[in-house]
Amino acid sequence: MKSDKKDLFYGKARDYDKGKAQIDNVTNIANLILTEIKYDKNQSILDFGSGTGLLLSKVAPYVGKITAVDISKSMNDVLDEKRSMIDCEIDIVEIDITKNKLNQKFDGILSSMTIHHLKDTLNLFESFYELLNNGGTIALADLDKENGTFHKSNKGVYHFGFDREDFLNTAKKAGFKNLKIQTVGVVEKPYGSYGVFLLTGIK
Ligand SMILES: C[S@@+](CC[C@H](N)C(=O)[O-])C[C@H]1O[C@@H](n2cnc3c(N)ncnc32)[C@H](O)[C@@H]1O
Repeated sequence: MKSDKKDLFYGKARDYDKGKAQIDNVTNIANLILTEIKYDKNQSILDFGSGTGLLLSKVAPYVGKITAVDISKSMNDVLDEKRSMIDCEIDIVEIDITKNKLNQKFDGILSSMTIHHLKDTLNLFESFYELLNNGGTIALADLDKENGTFHKSNKGVYHFGFDREDFLNTAKKAGFKNLKIQTVGVVEKPYGSYGVFLLTGIK
């Protein structure tokens, strides 16, 4: 197989679901999201940076449809193979959200461990705001500030985690209300411990 220089997750996708720390972290994120937000089967949700679908698989039983947006073909291919095991309608959209527009509205936006891969967080949150119906929710999980050791390679990593107050204020600036940021847990790696938070809010 040829490697794809633009697909930063090429070479990781096939083994992505085998990492215990990875799975435990996303399970904790999903559990907290489901505690904080009451979805229903009439709702259509966007998962930004959906990867292999670890997060959306857990939310799927509670919503009608999930649009999985990811730039990586290799991650999307793994998700596509799992379709029959996912308990809601799934639409996989392979785009770079910073360059392509989605002409749809959603009732909620989810994201796990992806936002640090985007340079302009305010611009991203403004596009999330645009994409939501009034009353639509955000549930965005990412890393607390770290020293640059979380990833083996920092290619495509624009933020070594986030300061929670800055992250929340960026969402406020984009127009979101009822914002709440809380701890999900800690990802333990041999060379460090990395805090993970969840921001929830409403348009
Ligand atoms: C660390 S993975 C997280 C995957 C999944 N959310 C999870 O928690 O298991 C980050 C994902 O974001 C995607 N991604 C990064 N930048 C993106 C962009 N600009 N547009 C769409 N997807 C992006 C990557 O391809 C990758 O699949």
